[in-house]
Amino acid sequence: MRTPIVAGNWKMHRTAAEGRALAVALVEKMGTPRGVEVVLCPPFTALAAVGAAVHRTALRLGAQNMHWEAQGAFTGEISAAMLVDAGCRHVILGHSERRQHFGETDEGVNRKAHAALRAGLVPIVCVGERLEERKAGRTDQVVRGQLRAALAGVEPAQAAGMVIAYEPVWAIGTGLPATGEEANRVSALLRATVGEAAGADAAAQVRIQYGGSVNAKNCAEFLSQPEVDGALVGGASLDAEAFAVIVSAAARG
Ligand code: PGA
Repeated sequence: MRTPIVAGNWKMHRTAAEGRALAVALVEKMGTPRGVEVVLCPPFTALAAVGAAVHRTALRLGAQNMHWEAQGAFTGEISAAMLVDAGCRHVILGHSERRQHFGETDEGVNRKAHAALRAGLVPIVCVGERLEERKAGRTDQVVRGQLRAALAGVEPAQAAGMVIAYEPVWAIGTGLPATGEEANRVSALLRATVGEAAGADAAAQVRIQYGGSVNAKNCAEFLSQPEVDGALVGGASLDAEAFAVIVSAAARG
Protein backbone atom coordinates (compact mmCIF):
# COMPACT_ATOMS: atom_id res chain seq x y z
CA MET A 1 0.00 0.00 0.00
CA ARG A 2 1.42 3.37 -1.01
CA THR A 3 1.49 6.08 1.66
CA PRO A 4 -0.19 9.19 0.24
CA ILE A 5 1.91 12.34 0.11
CA VAL A 6 0.59 15.89 0.26
CA ALA A 7 2.99 18.72 -0.53
CA GLY A 8 2.41 22.44 -0.13
CA ASN A 9 4.05 24.50 -2.85
CA TRP A 10 4.22 27.97 -1.34
CA LYS A 11 5.68 29.41 -4.56
CA MET A 12 7.02 32.98 -4.07
CA HIS A 13 5.06 33.63 -0.90
CA ARG A 14 6.03 34.13 2.76
CA THR A 15 9.10 35.65 4.37
CA ALA A 16 11.01 33.63 6.96
CA ALA A 17 8.92 35.03 9.84
CA GLU A 18 5.65 34.53 7.95
CA GLY A 19 6.70 31.04 6.96
CA ARG A 20 7.52 30.13 10.52
CA ALA A 21 4.09 31.37 11.65
CA LEU A 22 2.33 29.32 8.97
CA ALA A 23 4.33 26.20 9.83
CA VAL A 24 3.58 26.63 13.54
CA ALA A 25 -0.13 27.00 12.75
CA LEU A 26 -0.02 23.85 10.63
CA VAL A 27 1.71 21.84 13.34
CA GLU A 28 -0.95 22.99 15.82
CA LYS A 29 -3.80 22.08 13.51
CA MET A 30 -2.49 18.76 12.26
CA GLY A 31 -0.69 17.33 15.25
CA THR A 32 0.96 14.15 14.01
CA PRO A 33 -0.76 13.20 10.77
CA ARG A 34 -0.92 9.42 10.35
CA GLY A 35 -1.14 7.44 7.15
CA VAL A 36 0.02 10.39 5.08
CA GLU A 37 3.32 12.13 4.42
CA VAL A 38 3.25 15.93 4.52
CA VAL A 39 5.86 18.18 2.93
CA LEU A 40 6.12 21.98 3.14
CA CYS A 41 7.97 23.67 0.27
CA PRO A 42 8.62 27.32 1.16
CA PRO A 43 10.92 29.68 -0.76
CA PHE A 44 14.68 29.11 -0.20
CA THR A 45 14.94 32.08 2.18
CA ALA A 46 12.31 30.57 4.51
CA LEU A 47 13.69 27.00 4.54
CA ALA A 48 15.68 27.44 7.75
CA ALA A 49 12.82 29.07 9.67
CA VAL A 50 10.22 26.57 8.48
CA GLY A 51 12.66 23.72 9.06
CA ALA A 52 13.11 24.84 12.66
CA ALA A 53 9.33 25.08 13.14
CA VAL A 54 8.73 21.52 11.90
CA HIS A 55 11.77 19.98 13.59
CA ARG A 56 10.75 16.92 15.62
CA THR A 57 7.30 16.92 14.05
CA ALA A 58 5.96 14.62 11.34
CA LEU A 59 6.06 17.42 8.78
CA ARG A 60 8.87 17.39 6.20
CA LEU A 61 10.70 20.16 4.43
CA GLY A 62 11.07 20.44 0.67
CA ALA A 63 12.34 22.97 -1.86
CA GLN A 64 10.77 24.22 -5.07
CA ASN A 65 13.77 23.93 -7.37
CA MET A 66 17.52 23.27 -7.49
CA HIS A 67 20.42 23.16 -9.94
CA TRP A 68 21.84 19.90 -11.31
CA GLU A 69 25.49 20.72 -10.70
CA ALA A 70 27.06 19.99 -7.33
CA GLN A 71 28.74 23.41 -7.15
CA GLY A 72 30.34 26.02 -9.33
CA ALA A 73 29.92 29.34 -11.06
CA PHE A 74 26.12 29.33 -11.32
CA THR A 75 25.05 32.67 -9.92
CA GLY A 76 21.68 32.54 -8.24
CA GLU A 77 21.46 28.76 -8.09
CA ILE A 78 21.22 26.26 -5.23
CA SER A 79 22.59 22.70 -5.23
CA ALA A 80 21.03 19.48 -3.98
CA ALA A 81 23.63 19.25 -1.20
CA MET A 82 22.70 22.75 -0.07
CA LEU A 83 19.06 21.68 0.18
CA VAL A 84 20.01 18.62 2.20
CA ASP A 85 22.13 20.86 4.42
CA ALA A 86 19.10 23.13 4.92
CA GLY A 87 17.06 20.14 6.11
CA CYS A 88 15.18 19.27 2.92
CA ARG A 89 14.15 15.73 2.09
CA HIS A 90 12.16 16.57 -1.04
CA VAL A 91 12.46 18.88 -4.00
CA ILE A 92 9.87 19.89 -6.60
CA LEU A 93 11.33 19.60 -10.11
CA GLY A 94 9.98 20.75 -13.46
CA HIS A 95 7.02 22.71 -12.18
CA SER A 96 5.15 24.19 -15.13
CA GLU A 97 5.88 27.72 -13.90
CA ARG A 98 9.57 26.93 -14.18
CA ARG A 99 9.09 25.42 -17.60
CA GLN A 100 6.98 28.39 -18.73
CA HIS A 101 8.81 31.36 -17.19
CA PHE A 102 12.37 30.10 -16.73
CA GLY A 103 12.95 27.97 -19.79
CA GLU A 104 13.21 24.68 -17.95
CA THR A 105 13.42 21.74 -20.34
CA ASP A 106 12.76 18.01 -20.11
CA GLU A 107 16.50 17.46 -20.31
CA GLY A 108 17.15 19.86 -17.44
CA VAL A 109 14.49 18.16 -15.33
CA ASN A 110 16.17 14.81 -15.98
CA ARG A 111 19.58 16.18 -14.93
CA LYS A 112 18.03 17.64 -11.80
CA ALA A 113 16.30 14.34 -10.99
CA HIS A 114 19.63 12.52 -11.17
CA ALA A 115 21.35 15.14 -9.00
CA ALA A 116 18.53 15.05 -6.44
CA LEU A 117 18.60 11.25 -6.24
CA ARG A 118 22.39 11.25 -5.87
CA ALA A 119 22.03 13.61 -2.91
CA GLY A 120 19.30 11.47 -1.32
CA LEU A 121 16.46 13.88 -2.01
CA VAL A 122 13.03 12.67 -3.14
CA PRO A 123 12.23 14.42 -6.42
CA ILE A 124 8.64 15.51 -6.94
CA VAL A 125 8.61 15.63 -10.74
CA CYS A 126 5.83 17.71 -12.26
CA VAL A 127 4.29 16.92 -15.62
CA GLY A 128 1.20 18.38 -17.25
CA GLU A 129 -0.28 19.49 -20.54
CA ARG A 130 -1.11 23.05 -21.55
CA LEU A 131 -4.66 23.97 -22.56
CA GLU A 132 -3.90 24.04 -26.29
CA GLU A 133 -2.30 20.61 -26.02
CA ARG A 134 -5.39 19.25 -24.28
CA LYS A 135 -7.66 20.81 -26.89
CA ALA A 136 -5.55 19.23 -29.62
CA GLY A 137 -6.00 15.81 -28.00
CA ARG A 138 -2.30 15.60 -27.13
CA THR A 139 -2.55 15.28 -23.33
CA ASP A 140 -1.40 11.68 -23.10
CA GLN A 141 1.46 12.14 -25.53
CA VAL A 142 2.68 15.27 -23.72
CA VAL A 143 2.65 13.90 -20.18
CA ARG A 144 4.14 10.56 -21.21
CA GLY A 145 6.91 12.35 -23.08
CA GLN A 146 7.70 14.59 -20.10
CA LEU A 147 7.78 11.64 -17.73
CA ARG A 148 9.86 9.41 -20.01
CA ALA A 149 12.40 12.22 -20.37
CA ALA A 150 12.51 12.83 -16.62
CA LEU A 151 13.14 9.12 -15.96
CA ALA A 152 15.88 8.61 -18.55
CA GLY A 153 18.75 6.70 -16.98
CA VAL A 154 17.06 6.48 -13.57
CA GLU A 155 17.45 3.07 -11.87
CA PRO A 156 14.23 1.15 -11.11
CA ALA A 157 14.81 1.32 -7.34
CA GLN A 158 15.24 5.08 -7.59
CA ALA A 159 12.16 5.49 -9.76
CA ALA A 160 10.14 3.58 -7.16
CA GLY A 161 10.98 6.20 -4.54
CA MET A 162 10.14 9.19 -6.68
CA VAL A 163 6.95 11.22 -6.62
CA ILE A 164 5.25 12.28 -9.85
CA ALA A 165 2.83 15.22 -9.78
CA TYR A 166 0.27 15.36 -12.56
CA GLU A 167 -0.50 19.06 -12.86
CA PRO A 168 -2.47 20.09 -15.93
CA VAL A 169 -1.22 23.62 -16.61
CA TRP A 170 -4.73 24.95 -17.29
CA ALA A 171 -5.81 23.86 -13.79
CA ILE A 172 -3.01 25.58 -11.86
CA GLY A 173 -4.11 28.66 -9.99
CA THR A 174 -7.26 28.97 -12.09
CA GLY A 175 -9.88 27.57 -9.74
CA LEU A 176 -10.74 25.15 -12.56
CA PRO A 177 -9.43 21.74 -11.52
CA ALA A 178 -9.52 18.57 -13.59
CA THR A 179 -12.19 16.03 -12.65
CA GLY A 180 -11.30 13.23 -10.27
CA GLU A 181 -11.97 10.76 -13.06
CA GLU A 182 -9.56 12.45 -15.45
CA ALA A 183 -6.89 12.83 -12.75
CA ASN A 184 -7.23 9.10 -12.10
CA ARG A 185 -7.05 8.23 -15.80
CA VAL A 186 -3.90 10.27 -16.40
CA SER A 187 -2.32 8.98 -13.17
CA ALA A 188 -2.88 5.41 -14.38
CA LEU A 189 -1.24 6.34 -17.67
CA LEU A 190 1.74 7.82 -15.82
CA ARG A 191 2.01 4.71 -13.67
CA ALA A 192 2.07 2.57 -16.79
CA THR A 193 4.78 4.83 -18.20
CA VAL A 194 6.88 4.28 -15.06
CA GLY A 195 6.29 0.56 -15.60
CA GLU A 196 7.64 0.72 -19.15
CA ALA A 197 10.69 2.68 -18.03
CA ALA A 198 11.48 1.01 -14.73
CA GLY A 199 9.43 -2.16 -14.36
CA ALA A 200 6.32 -3.32 -12.56
CA ASP A 201 7.66 -2.98 -9.01
CA ALA A 202 8.58 0.67 -9.52
CA ALA A 203 5.19 1.32 -11.09
CA ALA A 204 3.42 -0.23 -8.12
CA GLN A 205 5.44 1.79 -5.64
CA VAL A 206 5.80 5.21 -7.27
CA ARG A 207 3.46 7.81 -5.84
CA ILE A 208 1.47 10.04 -8.14
CA GLN A 209 -0.06 13.29 -6.95
CA TYR A 210 -2.70 15.41 -8.58
CA GLY A 211 -2.16 19.18 -8.54
CA GLY A 212 -4.10 22.14 -9.90
CA SER A 213 -6.67 24.13 -7.91
CA VAL A 214 -6.96 21.53 -5.16
CA ASN A 215 -8.77 23.02 -2.16
CA ALA A 216 -10.53 21.96 1.03
CA LYS A 217 -13.84 21.54 -0.80
CA ASN A 218 -12.75 19.52 -3.82
CA CYS A 219 -9.82 17.53 -2.41
CA ALA A 220 -11.81 14.38 -1.59
CA GLU A 221 -12.74 13.96 -5.24
CA PHE A 222 -9.06 13.53 -6.13
CA LEU A 223 -7.78 11.83 -3.02
CA SER A 224 -10.42 9.10 -3.21
CA GLN A 225 -9.17 7.98 -6.64
CA PRO A 226 -7.27 4.68 -6.55
CA GLU A 227 -4.42 5.87 -8.80
CA VAL A 228 -3.99 9.23 -7.04
CA ASP A 229 -1.61 9.07 -4.06
CA GLY A 230 -1.86 12.61 -2.77
CA ALA A 231 -1.84 16.20 -3.90
CA LEU A 232 0.53 19.02 -4.78
CA VAL A 233 -1.20 22.10 -3.44
CA GLY A 234 -0.42 25.71 -4.29
CA GLY A 235 -2.81 28.44 -3.17
CA ALA A 236 -4.63 26.38 -0.54
CA SER A 237 -1.34 25.39 1.11
CA LEU A 238 -0.96 28.98 2.34
CA ASP A 239 -4.12 28.58 4.43
CA ALA A 240 -3.47 26.41 7.49
CA GLU A 241 -7.12 25.47 7.87
CA ALA A 242 -7.54 24.40 4.24
CA PHE A 243 -4.23 22.55 4.07
CA ALA A 244 -5.06 20.59 7.23
CA VAL A 245 -8.38 19.51 5.67
CA ILE A 246 -6.56 18.32 2.53
CA VAL A 247 -4.01 16.40 4.59
CA SER A 248 -6.68 14.60 6.58
CA ALA A 249 -8.60 13.76 3.40
CA ALA A 250 -5.44 12.14 2.02
CA ALA A 251 -4.69 10.02 5.09
CA ARG A 252 -5.15 6.31 4.53
CA GLY A 253 -5.74 3.65 7.10
P1 PGA B 1 -2.68 25.69 -7.20
O1 PGA B 1 -1.16 25.36 -7.60
O2 PGA B 1 -3.08 24.69 -6.14
O3 PGA B 1 -2.64 27.09 -6.67
O4 PGA B 1 -3.50 25.54 -8.43
C1 PGA B 1 -0.70 24.03 -7.69
C2 PGA B 1 0.74 24.03 -8.08
O5 PGA B 1 1.17 24.88 -8.88
O6 PGA B 1 1.51 23.17 -7.63
